[in-house]
Amino acid sequence: MGFNPLEHKGIPIDEQLRSWKELNVDPLPARPDDPYTMTRVILMNGIEVESIMFSHQFARNTDNPELKRSLATSRRIEQQQQKAVNWLLPGENTVLETTIGYEQVAVDLTAWLARNEPDPNLKMALDFALLEDFDHLYRYANLYDLIQGRYASELTQGLTEITPGRPTFAHHRDPVDMLRRHYATQTVNPLSRMHVMTIVAAEQQTMNYYMNTGPSQMEPIARGLYLEIGQVEEEHVSHYESLLDPLDSWLANLLFHEANEVYLYWSMLETESDPRVKQLWELHLNFEIGQMQEAARLLRTFEGREPEELLPPELPGIPLTFEPNKQYVRDVLAATVDLRTDLEDYMSLDQMPEDHRFHQYQAIVNKDGSYGEEVVEANREARGQEYRDETDGPNPVFPMPQTAGQA
Ligand SMILES: [Fe+2]
Ligand SMILES: [Fe+2]
Ligand SMILES: [Fe+2]
Ligand SMILES: [Fe+2]
Repeated sequence: MGFNPLEHKGIPIDEQLRSWKELNVDPLPARPDDPYTMTRVILMNGIEVESIMFSHQFARNTDNPELKRSLATSRRIEQQQQKAVNWLLPGENTVLETTIGYEQVAVDLTAWLARNEPDPNLKMALDFALLEDFDHLYRYANLYDLIQGRYASELTQGLTEITPGRPTFAHHRDPVDMLRRHYATQTVNPLSRMHVMTIVAAEQQTMNYYMNTGPSQMEPIARGLYLEIGQVEEEHVSHYESLLDPLDSWLANLLFHEANEVYLYWSMLETESDPRVKQLWELHLNFEIGQMQEAARLLRTFEGREPEELLPPELPGIPLTFEPNKQYVRDVLAATVDLRTDLEDYMSLDQMPEDHRFHQYQAIVNKDGSYGEEVVEANREARGQEYRDETDGPNPVFPMPQTAGQA
């Protein structure tokens, strides 16, 4: 059963400050028993980063001193939460190993949200980008095999398949074709609102991660792959954020952010297998309830609105869950690999006129090749075959090519 966080006090904000030693948590092992513990950590870091950046933007757009002080106070705590969560990541993992975790998050988060999304338009948007992050995982896994000589299945442990999706070279589209129609805040299902907020935060942190860590790579092909996929993550952020209703007030948005954090920490708590990490989720759940009470107070004070007008009577009873989604991803791949976009709509490749912006954009950026293709070719040359982890049989669209020796 879901619960109504407005009926709980949680931990009040003025009791949430922690010391450096409390925040500097012992990291997870590089290969945790459950890879989904790692994906939960990555997701919740993205959620905290979004709450921080949202608060900064809000503060830059208000001249109300009381509001600014309240935002500064809760933002400082969100920043501490981000540290306690992200410092669980093990330092011995390379950027590329963490990247494989990021794309595993993208696949199994997006697929789970799509499977549980009641609004067909939002589900369509999730299915659309799902196939692209699925393909990113495959490209990075080939880079990992090529430059570190290791298999990505060490990290994903066969929970997420690694095989081509919609090929990365085909993700590059004119920017005007990455904007969808938004839901209406008055009628949207509260679950749908949280789904969109969650995927925006997750894609945004992937975009930020590649923007900053891409050039830490040495090999030109690795630098190129991060650059190319990093651009696609901007497309994904633009795609998903355009689904949000832009007419919500800043204070309503603050309340929605806190409510989503409550729901997600509760979800992590319900599904976590590592007892130590579970304790952190529980602590942060109680923090978020306290933060939500403060957001509710601000809404009452400055907009004269009750939080109950904006929030459902209780949070969804089903926790957001990291679990395998293999058959679902295969079905979406087989049905929609050739889907493209045309302004706010989708269009299949064979319906697209030859002079469409898509083809013009492709002709410029892919003019001298795509790193997504080159990394797989280079790995085929180096190892005799490309890297895949197809646990449930051959790829329904792209069967493994014959290698030179077998032809
Ligand atoms: Fe938070
Ligand atoms: Fe991706
Ligand atoms: Fe993405
Ligand atoms: Fe929060």
